[in-house]
Amino acid sequence: MLETTVRREPDYGTPPSADTRTVSLSIDGVAVTVPAGTSVMRAAAESGINIPRLCATDSLDAFGSCRLCLVEVEGHRGLPASCTLTVQEGMAVRTQTSRLQKIRRNVMELYISDHPLDCLTCASNGDCELQDMAGAVGLREVRYGFDGENHLDDAVDDSNPYFTFDPSLCIVCSRCVRACDDIQGTFALTLTGRGFEARVTAGQHDGFLGSECVSCGACVQACPTGSLVENTVIEQGQPDHAVITTCAYCGVGCGFRAEMKGEQVVRMVPWKDGKANHGHSCVKGRFAWGYATHAHRITTPMIRASIDDPWQEVTWDEAIAHAASEIKRIQSQYGPDSVGGLTSSRCTNEETYLVQKLVRAAFGNNNVDTCARVCHSPTGYGLKTTLGESAGTQTFDSVMHSDVIIVMGANPTDAHPVFASRLKQRLRQGARLIVIDPRQIELVNAPHVRADYHLPVRPGTNTALLTAMAHVIATENRVDTAFVEQRCETDTFADWLDFVSRPENAPEAMEATTGVAAADIRGAARLYAGGGNGSIYYGLGVTEHSQGSTTVMAIANLAMATGNIGREGVGVNPLWGQNNVQGSCDMGSFPHELPGYRHVSDDTVRHEFEQDWGVRISPEPGYRIPNMLDAAVAGGFKGLYCQGEDIAQSDPNTQHVTAALQAMECVIVQDLFLNETAKYAHVFLPGSSFLEKDGTFTNAERRISRVRQVMQPKAGHADWEITCLLSNALGYDMSYRHPREIMDEIARLTPTFSGVSFDRIDELGGSIQWPCNDEAPEGTPIMHVDTFVRGKGRFMITQYVPSDERSTRRFPLLLTTGRILSQYNVGAQTRRTDNIVWHERDVLEIHPQDALDRGILHGDAVAIQSRAGETVLQADVTDRIEPGVVYTTFHFPESGANVVTTDSSDWATNCPEYKVTAVQVRKVAQVSAWQQQWSEEDRNQQQLLDGVYDDAPA
Ligand code: SF4
Ligand code: SF4
Ligand code: SF4
Ligand code: FES
Repeated sequence: MLETTVRREPDYGTPPSADTRTVSLSIDGVAVTVPAGTSVMRAAAESGINIPRLCATDSLDAFGSCRLCLVEVEGHRGLPASCTLTVQEGMAVRTQTSRLQKIRRNVMELYISDHPLDCLTCASNGDCELQDMAGAVGLREVRYGFDGENHLDDAVDDSNPYFTFDPSLCIVCSRCVRACDDIQGTFALTLTGRGFEARVTAGQHDGFLGSECVSCGACVQACPTGSLVENTVIEQGQPDHAVITTCAYCGVGCGFRAEMKGEQVVRMVPWKDGKANHGHSCVKGRFAWGYATHAHRITTPMIRASIDDPWQEVTWDEAIAHAASEIKRIQSQYGPDSVGGLTSSRCTNEETYLVQKLVRAAFGNNNVDTCARVCHSPTGYGLKTTLGESAGTQTFDSVMHSDVIIVMGANPTDAHPVFASRLKQRLRQGARLIVIDPRQIELVNAPHVRADYHLPVRPGTNTALLTAMAHVIATENRVDTAFVEQRCETDTFADWLDFVSRPENAPEAMEATTGVAAADIRGAARLYAGGGNGSIYYGLGVTEHSQGSTTVMAIANLAMATGNIGREGVGVNPLWGQNNVQGSCDMGSFPHELPGYRHVSDDTVRHEFEQDWGVRISPEPGYRIPNMLDAAVAGGFKGLYCQGEDIAQSDPNTQHVTAALQAMECVIVQDLFLNETAKYAHVFLPGSSFLEKDGTFTNAERRISRVRQVMQPKAGHADWEITCLLSNALGYDMSYRHPREIMDEIARLTPTFSGVSFDRIDELGGSIQWPCNDEAPEGTPIMHVDTFVRGKGRFMITQYVPSDERSTRRFPLLLTTGRILSQYNVGAQTRRTDNIVWHERDVLEIHPQDALDRGILHGDAVAIQSRAGETVLQADVTDRIEPGVVYTTFHFPESGANVVTTDSSDWATNCPEYKVTAVQVRKVAQVSAWQQQWSEEDRNQQQLLDGVYDDAPA
């Protein structure tokens, strides 16, 4: 049952064995058959026999320290620990003899003698394994008394904003230490001292906040006592029910149990059965959900005639009627193409589907786009062209079968942390790593992980570097010819082979361009082609370039040429940034594609939708976001419905974006907060958080997971309902009773989704990877297994074309941008949580030599100037970045990172070239003119909201 679950998930004590052979034994006289390699503890638990335990939990390998789980085995002399004892054929085990019971009571007596007896006031009362074990072993007295040497006065560490460590409750089971090492891979905790002196220590006695801890919560999850516990549990008490849902932050799509008291979230606990995360989480999904009830939430619809007027609170009816009449007025005055809409990759599939349907059916044009335009649109184009489908090829689990892993233009430990933990596990097992990135990201040299090659490619030259790797593979006869002959197009392969083999594409010839030593390119290419299963994971450092689509195709070329497609451990894997970017693309959010990536000019497809929707759909592709903005500035585009997207902060060349918004006559923003775009809005429709609605998200594995409502929408309507209201007011009927009906319509009209329904998702354990249809009723974990979706794999020529954004005498440095673990995109959510303690402002990373050349010291205010604009940030002088390159994040609106980025974009998809902006950096004493203006306008807009926040729930 997924809707509401019992509070604590079953724990079998040790992880399952993957062995396909089975072993039969008897436990307490019960015949048991389990996979070989299973522990006796797990075999017993699977048969309903619970052996007392403290140091074991099924997310960690057995450790065997507490000695509570001892068992008797017929024919054996001692008493082995059942957690470390592996089943053997014919074994006869006894778990409940009087001898065992006595020993267990003795063990528990020792634990309890050094434990406070304040269970009734302990935050973990009722959720404590120590308490449970005392009951299970029948402990009735503690003969040693409580006056001996103990740890009851050890100081509490409450430095972390989200959880507290109380060492007086610690039983030194080391579950936290092992969780941090084995699951998270951060190695922030150690057990210091021996025997009675043994204590859990964060960092070098730095406290949790001052240590390397990344606040993933794995240790809290693993702790069997109240020693490590969430602050919300301390404050609110134990939850009374749980609902399974999906994280609304990144493209990993972790499953969570929202543990609740009534409609109040007490804690978000990573779901053990979540197929993307297997019970792990990062600080964002685990702890940073407080924004959902933040006082800045706007929960009443508002309208105003001009962006200089105060906002006026109105009823839903008034807001929707006003929005609809404005759209109608604009279309009758300026023509049907003068309005458009933006879907949100933070909203559900059902919601994005409805927005594109609204635009196509009610607005009557194809002017719909989504934030994927500015992140992964080149992935869609590049993978569709070469492989035939606009999506990644693998599951996240597949990385556990990889032998060589390329991470390119991505920083998984910050942006996709749960996947990064899995990746690090595989690397600790011995897989080899190639990092292609201008920065020394954490994976290059992390605890127990070291990249074999770090290729610090000069921003803008990815295509040249991958083509040089292809040159090595082609000219050193490292192509998997059997795979290519069987699976790929002969003619495009021959053209590609000829192209990459040319001397001008050799690593030596490309060295000056890429800035990477030819020997390293050769070494990395040889390793990828010859090291066993090779997989490629890439991010926005690949796509957000003028040659983003070309680089994606170069990645696909490499994978096909080496036969690294179509099985476990290989593949091409875009790490989508937001929770539902894959879904918003799947749902037809692009102006040229109906749901399922089918072109609007395809008559057959369009007629299917026209028949179902009862309207005529334009066969002409509509405006992309940049076209909408350009048309607005030119005076032809006047109205925008923007759901859950903040283009005024997230899109490049801020001054152009805000000029376009200012030129529009009706901007309708549907969001949680008055974001930067809403400052230019005329209608504000309060949106709902992921906790307030039902639906599905699709993660970077194409995994469709359920999002479940745990509380009523704060503003009275979920986002999908608001779109329906607007559509109905425009005269196009949308009447759905529940998002499941929207998914049924999507399935009816989209061949790759035809087997998907909410019921089917539940039947399959909570998620389905598309395609899911008659050919693949259980979904498709790995794509292109026997044949490519497009038939034969298509090689594409990847001629390197230098970006217009290149360093000059005036702008000698290259600015590149990225994310940080604790913040998320425009920061609208994470800035409203305690995550602010880790990152309270964006800074500019600059190499010591570049800083020295400019007289810049660490912490100085520095102006970053490009041909688009100028902003001022604090300098972080670091050798994480190569000379000639500077780096910043874009989580705070006042930073103005996108004031500096230009409108240079990918040749095929218009994805902005965020990763390369030619800039100059100089030391200054005050903020930029743009920042001064931003502060003034921000103050004005806050005043125009006068009184609105006071009505919002705290
Ligand atoms: S929160 Fe995560 S990173 Fe921090 S100590 Fe615990 S397991 Fe390690
Ligand atoms: S803090 Fe918890 S998990 Fe860590 S050693 Fe102590 S009791 Fe065990
Ligand atoms: S890794 Fe991504 S999906 Fe998982 S908890 Fe973190 S932000 Fe959420
Ligand atoms: S649970 Fe087996 S020794 Fe602790």
